[in-house]
Amino acid sequence: ADQKVYQASTTAPVNIAVVKYWGKRDAKLNLPTNSSVSVTLSQADLRTHTTAACSSSFTEDTLLLNSSSQDVSGPRTQACFRELRSLRAALEESNPSLPKLSTLPLRIVSENNFPTAAGLASSAAGFAALVRAIANLYELPSSPTDLSRIARQGSGSACRSLFGGYVAWQMGWKADGSDSVAVEIAPASHWPTMRALILVVSAEKKGVSSTSGMQITVGTSGLFQRRAEIVVPKHMAEMEKAILEKDFQAFGKVTMMESNSFHATCLDTFPPIFYLNDVSRAAIRVVEDINREAGKIIAAYTFDAGPNAVIYYEEKDTEAVAGVLNGALGNLDGWQSRNIKAQSTSALDA
Ligand code: PMV
Repeated sequence: ADQKVYQASTTAPVNIAVVKYWGKRDAKLNLPTNSSVSVTLSQADLRTHTTAACSSSFTEDTLLLNSSSQDVSGPRTQACFRELRSLRAALEESNPSLPKLSTLPLRIVSENNFPTAAGLASSAAGFAALVRAIANLYELPSSPTDLSRIARQGSGSACRSLFGGYVAWQMGWKADGSDSVAVEIAPASHWPTMRALILVVSAEKKGVSSTSGMQITVGTSGLFQRRAEIVVPKHMAEMEKAILEKDFQAFGKVTMMESNSFHATCLDTFPPIFYLNDVSRAAIRVVEDINREAGKIIAAYTFDAGPNAVIYYEEKDTEAVAGVLNGALGNLDGWQSRNIKAQSTSALDA
């Protein structure tokens, strides 16, 4: 039999939300209760590189992440494999001369270019890279938005990592999830002076996973419904406008209010979920001081499901933001992204 190994590789970047996804209306399909917006970080700094291969010489589907074997039997990974295989099977049916890859075992090998110990959420880049690597292997004619529909089923936030730059995940309305996809608001080149700095407050794994945290929040928080129905739609409109107009004051204000609103619903969850710790709160105060000193918003913090801070600022304010944060919190590890689409620097230890 044909023992040929077919393979394809790709990379996908980490994205950090500035309007947060928190809450599922359908846990199986990863359909969110609200839309969200993210900024994609520099691939030089933070990305997953993935190679997908298939061959009749492989015995079963496997996934290696940073050289350690991962379970592929979970429903998220299975959903991605199933969707991609069925698209390939349809191609093979319409073109019988194509090799029958859809039935072969898959071997996926992924590497993150940032320390796993950094405690940074990597599932977004991970599932985005996995889905695109297999789509490339299968030579699917899918658009990034088509692939976002599949990656969403691996990890919600992964759908936004199919695009660079400024990305919206439209929650959609349909029960089958066909309209719950990512779209580009603007490419990274639209706002090339944007910078992101990551303060690694803790390298430990988060206490409450996003999936279970969201479910308890949706089930118990009274603030949550108001956030999903009133606060987020307002923030979505303001954020898209701020990005299109490159208005950092508006971008920063919504980013910080969004982070605070999300963490308020975590506190309003019962039992409460605490993702921020004392160092996180110290970072918030330093950013407040920086903005007070500047007389306007030149730095904006945001936190996901953990204590690490991501600080957005513009290049011209590097000294006033990164310099001051370095002085105040310089004993922490950190990665400073010089440009959300360009090169990496060793960050806080200037
Ligand atoms: O994609 P998940 O299930 O890991 O959830 C991500 C949730 C947040 O990072 C807190 C917010 C977001 O929009 O990325």
